[in-house]
Amino acid sequence: MAFSDAFLDELAARCDIYDIVSRYVTLKKSGSNWFGLCPFHTEKTGSFSVNTEKQIYHCFGCGAGGSVYNFIMQIENLTFPESVEFLANLAGVALPEQDTSYHDNRKRLQELNRDAARFFYNTLLSPEGRAGYDYLIRRGLQPGTIKRYGLGFAPDSWDSLMNAMTAKGYTKAELRELGLVKPNNHGGFYDQFRNRVMFPIIDIRGNVIAFGGRVMDDSKPKYLNSPETKLFSKSRNLFSLNFAKKNTSRRLILAEGYMDVIALNQAGFREAVASLGTALTQEQAKLIKRFADEVIISYDADSAGQNAAARAADILKPADLKVRILKIPGAKDPDEFIREHGREAFAALLERSEDHMEFTLDRIRAGFDLETDEGRVGFLKEAAKTLARLSSPVEREIYASRAAESGNVSKEALLSEIERNRKAYAKRARSEETRRLLSPEKQAQPVNRSLHYADMRTARAEEGIIALLSREPSFAQTLLASGVGPEDFTSPFLKKICTFILEQYRTGNSVSSGALSQFLEPDEMSELGRILSAPDTGDAASAGKDYIYIIKESRARHADADGEDPLLAMRDLHKEKKSYGGSFS
Ligand code: UTP
Ligand code: MN
Repeated sequence: MAFSDAFLDELAARCDIYDIVSRYVTLKKSGSNWFGLCPFHTEKTGSFSVNTEKQIYHCFGCGAGGSVYNFIMQIENLTFPESVEFLANLAGVALPEQDTSYHDNRKRLQELNRDAARFFYNTLLSPEGRAGYDYLIRRGLQPGTIKRYGLGFAPDSWDSLMNAMTAKGYTKAELRELGLVKPNNHGGFYDQFRNRVMFPIIDIRGNVIAFGGRVMDDSKPKYLNSPETKLFSKSRNLFSLNFAKKNTSRRLILAEGYMDVIALNQAGFREAVASLGTALTQEQAKLIKRFADEVIISYDADSAGQNAAARAADILKPADLKVRILKIPGAKDPDEFIREHGREAFAALLERSEDHMEFTLDRIRAGFDLETDEGRVGFLKEAAKTLARLSSPVEREIYASRAAESGNVSKEALLSEIERNRKAYAKRARSEETRRLLSPEKQAQPVNRSLHYADMRTARAEEGIIALLSREPSFAQTLLASGVGPEDFTSPFLKKICTFILEQYRTGNSVSSGALSQFLEPDEMSELGRILSAPDTGDAASAGKDYIYIIKESRARHADADGEDPLLAMRDLHKEKKSYGGSFS
């Protein structure tokens, strides 16, 4: 892929970060920055900042941050190239010719997936697909539903799909890239999906992005799914959202499985989607929020399903979605329920579905024996802890009444226990805030655990060098002359950034936020946003010397591990310190 730095710079220059962010967030000026409520997490005070001089955003609350490209990726749920296309459209800038190769490849892959879906569908309707067709009919699907979802059949063969697709001009490399074939031990390839009923996964733009394939008996694995590819990210898509998004009710039904959603659709519940068999992600919650304000979770009735429902609710609530949880009596999942009891019965269940708080209280109640005093006290304490989290006094009152009644405890006792918990929470929040302020070190650890610093002091110096480099590119000269380089960095991702900046400097290219956004992973870019949002240190030259010294000192400390004489290395260093008189502690 890759867009040229020049193009990314030009586009970013036309898409001022303030203008773009203001389309989504109300910003108010404070000092040299703009502040607002973070669109990426729920908060009451604005910790989301935009720095127009550096053209970056950063949230001090959740750690989100980066360039204008990262902002669009995050808020519109797009990949980097898609965010470039999005901004180019907005600014009325044409994508450069040579930059379309990425899109050409993507288009071909999209066509390949569509042709594969067509192949599976045609096979299902042919004598070869008879077993698959009968299976689906046996499971209660109507021919119209099979067609609507483009369900198909992968023949019991090692190369049917591969032959059909290569005959159409697709390469085996392309088939492999989409996970449709896999390499064998003899340098060849074989069809990944064999003797399975096929479910195409279609995104909201109508592209076939992946497949799920189900066996027709009890063998394992029950479903085989496409891997993550250029077209498919499991955590960013929902099965059947292409249909559900047409629903205007601003309500979605979230189920676990392919068959649940298809059965719901067939029964007229077009607003059903499935989370593709894994735990619901924050990206999926954001995607849902684009099309709905309310979600009814309709997971399997077993305890695994109900636990997953509670976890999904925890993901959906912070995305500002109203959540209700459906309990399916006497059936294992929505598919089975609808087949046995019909559409009306499910509609009645929907009406009765509990909101999230009732569901949580039910779960708490189930954990105690309310016949005993001890059980009632336990319930009262647990329920109070949960209800104390509700910020609205009206809601606290309503749920406290219900919980008190159903738990057979006094409402007054419950309310006073809730108050006690609220005070404790408030106190804890205050002391956490103080601790956070008093411990800048803790706060400075990257939000993403995989990027955490092993050596905080050195990492801070490395951050300082990166901030300096971006503020004053000429510092690269000083750094190159100092004998300290990215190879001495202790943090792998800071090393990666420093190497990139120096390489840009060496080849005479600027270090723009666009180039960085293209080069770095979104998480790394967020951290860079934090680093660049820190207030500038006063005297750049002496700060630079300090950083270089700290890194040399750490290098000397680690020298013994590399077989050097640590004492010698230290002595050399102390001589150097005297000669410039650095001001570090
Ligand atoms: P379930 O096991 O509940 O299957 O998995 P189901 O949807 O009810 O399927 P049927 O009714 O037996 O045909 C729920 C979802 O988890 C994913 C699939 O997306 C499935 O729809 N899953 C399950 C897999 O990806 N692989 C598996 O092996 C099993
Ligand atoms: Mn099922």
